This record gives sequence, C-alpha cells and structure tokens, in this order.
Amino acid sequence: MNGCPDGANLLTDNPALYEARFPDPERIAGRWAEACLARYGAGPRVLDVGCGTGRDAEHLHRAGRAVTGADVSAAMLAHARVHHPGPRYVHADLRRFDLGEDAFDAVVCLDSALLYCHTNDELDGFLASCRRALRSGGLLVAEMRNGAFFLGRTELLDAPRTDCFTWEGVVHRSTTTLRVDRAAQLLRRSRVWTADDGSPPVEQRSAWRLLFPQELRRFLDAHGFEVLGLYDRPGPRTDPPWHEGAAPEETTGAPGTADGDRLHLVARLRAPR
Ligand SMILES: C[S@@+](CC[C@H](N)C(=O)[O-])C[C@H]1O[C@@H](n2cnc3c(N)ncnc32)[C@H](O)[C@@H]1O
Repeated sequence: MNGCPDGANLLTDNPALYEARFPDPERIAGRWAEACLARYGAGPRVLDVGCGTGRDAEHLHRAGRAVTGADVSAAMLAHARVHHPGPRYVHADLRRFDLGEDAFDAVVCLDSALLYCHTNDELDGFLASCRRALRSGGLLVAEMRNGAFFLGRTELLDAPRTDCFTWEGVVHRSTTTLRVDRAAQLLRRSRVWTADDGSPPVEQRSAWRLLFPQELRRFLDAHGFEVLGLYDRPGPRTDPPWHEGAAPEETTGAPGTADGDRLHLVARLRAPR
C-alpha cells in the first residue's frame, strides 16, 4: 500500500473530485458566511483562508465582496482560478501569513481549515496573522469541528467507516478510521482508498486540532478579538443545516450551546487599547 505523508491528500490534490465528493450545489457554506458578514456589518474586503476549490470565495464575490482566496495547495488554487473566477487567489499558509496590514474587513475560515493549526504556536501564528490582516473592528468568521463533541462520546471513533462512490467510471472505496491523540490534542484520521481500476490502495493521513470552546475564547482574547458568537448550530454542516433567511446563529434553543459536532465562530477585532 502506498502511504501519503501528512500534507499529501488525494482529495485536495484532485479538486474536481473534492467537489464531487463533498457537493455543496446550493453554496450553503458561502451563504452562511455571507449571512454572518452581513449580520455584523462587515465591510467588502474579505479574505477566505483555506479557500480550497474557491466555491465559497466565488459565492462571496458574487454577493458583491472584494475577495481574496488563500490556500496552501497549488492544485486547489489552479482549480479555483479556472472554475471559480472573480476572487484573487494567492498561495499562503494560514498558520503564518502576511497579505498586508489592515488589508481586509473580514477573514473567513471554513470547513475546519483553522484546525490545521495543530499546535498552540500555530494557532498564535494564525490569529496574529488575522490581526495584522484585519482593520480594527474587522470580523473573523470560522466553521469547524467541535473538539468538545468528543468529550464523553466515542460514536465517531468506535468503528471504521466505509464509503463508496463512482468518479469518471471508476468505483472508489474508502475506509476511514478516526482516533484521538490526547497528548497532542489532535483528531487523527487514516483513510485507505481502493479503486476498481487496479491501482494499489493508498493511505492518506490527516489531523485536526481538538479545540474546545473555552480554550478558543482564551486564544481569541489574547489576540485582541471579542467573541460575538460561538455555538454549535445551525451551520452549513449541521443536521439540519442552516438555511437562507434563518439567523446565522441559534435563536430558538439555548444560544451558545456546544454539544454538536460543529463549532461556529464570529469574533471582532477590538480597537487597540
Ligand atoms: C476542507 S478544505 C476546505 C475547502 C473549501 N472550503 C471548499 O469547500 O472548497 C481545507 C483546505 O485547507 C487547505 N489547507 C490545509 N492546510 C493549510 C494551510 N496550512 N494553509 C492554508 N490552507 C491550508 C487545503 O489545501 C484545503 O484546500
């Protein structure tokens, strides 16, 4: 079996396959992000970090914003420029980037991209970079896995999950195993791909920081951000998902709950003291 080191990723190396595998035809993630930006009166200049295929960046562009999409994957950026034109696309590592001072009114970071900051130093690097990039009063909008979901729950860890789909006439099967690395506070994923075209199995490994709400609040405060919203639902990847017209954050149940498997953040950069 071929092994991919952390960083190599069959899906992000094949953006069209990524979009087919994780379809979002109604652009719910982009719409949710736009609803958050509109609700808190963000200005037009938006940076989408970890922009991936560019579909969310394009949605924000179509909503009238001046968007920069940033990603570390050359394949994703190339795909975004062709298939989701409008935004400017740049290569940047979200763990430490410099795209100019006061250059943006908002930073958007969707689909757990923030959790590629595995260490505290990397989280500090991300938030310091956001602070430099944002004007005073600028917004940080993020959507990610919720580390607190794993407290007392093992349902995602107990057994490998298998999936199957057909792509360009080839049947692909994946077996995904998740485990918690408690010392590193990471959720580690091993995914083994097989295809019926005779190619050898490939193992792809990824990891996400298991970040807890109170811990995130402390990081944000230390970097000058005021939390406006931190809650589990509704969002683009919750069940049921957020829908157009609904408030971007829960208003009917207990606001600010963190029981679900996703976490949604809206924070504002405070004026310098
Ligand atoms: C889950 S995908 C998000 C995709 C995007 N929201 C979409 O739907 O197309 C995460 C993205 O983060 C990018 N990424 C991973 N590590 C990164 C890093 N250190 N800096 C910037 N981008 C990174 C990957 O290349 C990938 O495109």
